Amino acid sequence: MQAAEKSTPLMALDDVISLAKADMAGVDALIASSLASDVPLVSQVSEYIVMSGGKRLRPLIVLLASRALGYTGDQHRRAAAIVEFIHTATLLHDDVVDSSDRRRGRDSANAVFGNQASVLVGDFLYSRAFQMMVDIDDMRVMRILADATNTIASGEVMQLMNVHDPDVNEEAYRQVIYRKTARLFEAGAQLSAVLANAGEATEASMIDYGRHLGCAFQLVDDALDFDASPEELGKNLGDDLAEGKPTLPLIYAMQQGSAADREMIRQAIVDGGLQQLPKIQSIIESTGALQYTAARAQEAADLAIDALADLPDSDHKQALIAIAEFAVRRRS
Ligand code: IPE
Ligand code: IPE
Ligand code: MG
Ligand code: MG
Repeated sequence: MQAAEKSTPLMALDDVISLAKADMAGVDALIASSLASDVPLVSQVSEYIVMSGGKRLRPLIVLLASRALGYTGDQHRRAAAIVEFIHTATLLHDDVVDSSDRRRGRDSANAVFGNQASVLVGDFLYSRAFQMMVDIDDMRVMRILADATNTIASGEVMQLMNVHDPDVNEEAYRQVIYRKTARLFEAGAQLSAVLANAGEATEASMIDYGRHLGCAFQLVDDALDFDASPEELGKNLGDDLAEGKPTLPLIYAMQQGSAADREMIRQAIVDGGLQQLPKIQSIIESTGALQYTAARAQEAADLAIDALADLPDSDHKQALIAIAEFAVRRRS
């Protein structure tokens, strides 16, 4: 990255949000109107999850990136709403698969309405997202979102194959986080370039931005699972360990710890459950596994910022840079 860019003071997150305020209000209105269904349980569950907040980070990126590339139309709002719908559908399914009972600071939809309703309303949101894509009426947009949705599903299945396997290495872990999380960030950023007709080179840069940012985001999520305030996070601590997920903090702690530490973590991954959480948190602490994970996230965020180097400078570009930094230092 150029020194000039590094010395630019970082935009505060509040300024990032106010920059996209009007656009985001449009996205929220679109989201609300797109939840309509003549089946009461569909509206109940979808409103419960969609209206429970969430950072709206993916739509924010779509909106800011479109503007940073000079887009002046309003289809970016629809694209942003679609990306948030896909994200929300994955959360409904993910909390069933992960047996998670807290989400966005309240009981998860599966905890309130049950697994069946969560899975089915997740399907409703996915298919509603596809209806909205058709409204954009652009084959490239359809392809990007169809491919991304498919890759996310494969990432979740790949992760399922890895649970309870203590031999999963960093490379295999990275494959999972790219597919299940970074791919949607990538698609969102790419959509902005496509809508703005920005040309191939810029499209490739935006793909890089989204991919690296999404990886940073999931790396931090996996660190926060061992070290966060559940109130701030809005989710339970230790969900990954409970499911026997071999995430990077555990992979690194196994590499660096004593033979006894390694055996303790291996067994916890095989068994799942939270019995050993305090002991494992202390091994994670003593091996510097959270610092290691944070450093990998910072590396990814730096790559995301580097990918923006050729974009003309603007507040919107600065906001995209600030989001990459936020992805690393976030606590929720
Ligand atoms: C949660 O994503 C799922 C992950 C990819 C880690 P967010 O942390 O963006 O969830 P919300 O939308 O803000 O609740
Ligand atoms: C992200 O992984 C899930 C999806 C991309 C759907 P996690 O399982 O870590 O997400 P959280 O922690 O439940 O939000
Ligand atoms: Mg989960
Ligand atoms: Mg998580």
